[in-house]
Amino acid sequence: MYIEMEKEKGVYRANVLVLPYPSQGHINPMLQFAKRLAPKGIKASLAITHFLSKSMQAKSGSIEVVKFSDGFDDGVFTQADGEDYHTRLEVTGSQTLAELIKKQDSSGYPFDCLVYDAFLPWALDVAKKFGLVGAAFLTQSCANNNIYYHVQRGLLKVPISESPVSLPGLPLLELADMPSFISAYGSYPTYFHLLSNQFSNIHEADWVLVNTFYKLEDKVIDWMAKLWPMRAVGPTSMYLDKRVEDDKGYGLNLFKPSACMNWLSSRPTGSVVYVSFGSMASVGVEQMEELARGLSGSGRYFLWVVRASEEEKLPKNFAEEMSEKGLVVHWCSQLEVLAHHAVGCFVTHCGWNSVLEALSLGVPMVGMPQWTDQTTNAKYVKDVWKTGLRARVDEKGIVRRQEVERCIREVMEGEKGQGIMKNSREWRNFAKEAVDEGGSSQKNIDEFVAKLVCS
Ligand code: UDX
Repeated sequence: MYIEMEKEKGVYRANVLVLPYPSQGHINPMLQFAKRLAPKGIKASLAITHFLSKSMQAKSGSIEVVKFSDGFDDGVFTQADGEDYHTRLEVTGSQTLAELIKKQDSSGYPFDCLVYDAFLPWALDVAKKFGLVGAAFLTQSCANNNIYYHVQRGLLKVPISESPVSLPGLPLLELADMPSFISAYGSYPTYFHLLSNQFSNIHEADWVLVNTFYKLEDKVIDWMAKLWPMRAVGPTSMYLDKRVEDDKGYGLNLFKPSACMNWLSSRPTGSVVYVSFGSMASVGVEQMEELARGLSGSGRYFLWVVRASEEEKLPKNFAEEMSEKGLVVHWCSQLEVLAHHAVGCFVTHCGWNSVLEALSLGVPMVGMPQWTDQTTNAKYVKDVWKTGLRARVDEKGIVRRQEVERCIREVMEGEKGQGIMKNSREWRNFAKEAVDEGGSSQKNIDEFVAKLVCS
């Protein structure tokens, strides 16, 4: 054991613990960031809760997974217990994270740095207590972070009384473009607090890392980088090495992927509409029906991820009736799907990871934002990067079948679609440039690593 430690000490230049908020949309980018540190001589471990570790469907590749407790090791909580969950996560999480760090200390190869999800600001206190470098990791777009920063500092008053809203580095935002916890202030108080509380102690962090890239959000990055030592290090999904057989996905799925690649491979290039609403969004029954009818009406092939918990909302026998045209699966390896030549359009809820992944792989989008940051992301997709459309909702907040059809048609056919495709290709190249050797995100990671090994 001792010899192994010595060997590790010799091989690695620093030892980093990476702590994501316990959900798929946060684990993916932070795991991928951790994987980037290894080739630079850094040992990185990923801390996930005991409960989530039981749902892990695949290994995390080169990264060691260590476990801590959120106080719900048996998973006995529901969304309705949200408030209780976050309080317990903080109390039990602080304690068990400290135990993890102490245990590592006594192994003779202590952690040097904690890269913690900014959703968990209490983790910085734990890092400081043990003298570790503390790096906050922002998993959402810089634009969203800037909005919540303004709210947290009292610079943007909620509920919002006047729109459009003007904030530094951002386009004018209508109420419908604001994050849902702000536009529908009071709808999810726990999550509103979680998002704005990210900035309560961020000025004490040694680093603030963001999963975006400079060209994508240059103005807002410039503005925020004046506040703290903030660096854009994404898109983390772009770091996947497609040449490595087992590096096609992030590597830590909390849901079991279904087989769909053979189905996809038998479809012509650019012919398939891929549809997914990520790991959390819950779509109403009426919306599911409209989306289903819109997909069938589009006449296109489609691959639709409907999580097992959402399946009963599908119209009766829909999957069977559409089996010639469509495949409905519970989960897939999204990166592999988006990278597949058959995919021509992504109908997405505009979760930040999904948007970055589509943008990095040059896939045009139809945005159907559901909640949280997705509304703001959809605004950027349509009006700033112009890599897709945002489906219009009716007075009941539903995207009707005709609108689904219209958006798919506009994105996949015609002049507008060609412009969107051209922009998508351009952004794919910019994303690649950012993470390639000498690119803006790569340089930022190098700077982070260089300072870490000197500290
Ligand atoms: C949540 C929020 O909803 C999102 O808005 C926020 O920015 C991050 O946290 P989620 O809803 O799950 O995330 O969406 P998203 O950010 O898109 O993350 C989903 C991840 O799961 C992506 O990395 C995607 O590649 C992956 N995924 C999704 C799969 O691997 N397979 C699937 O079938 C669906």
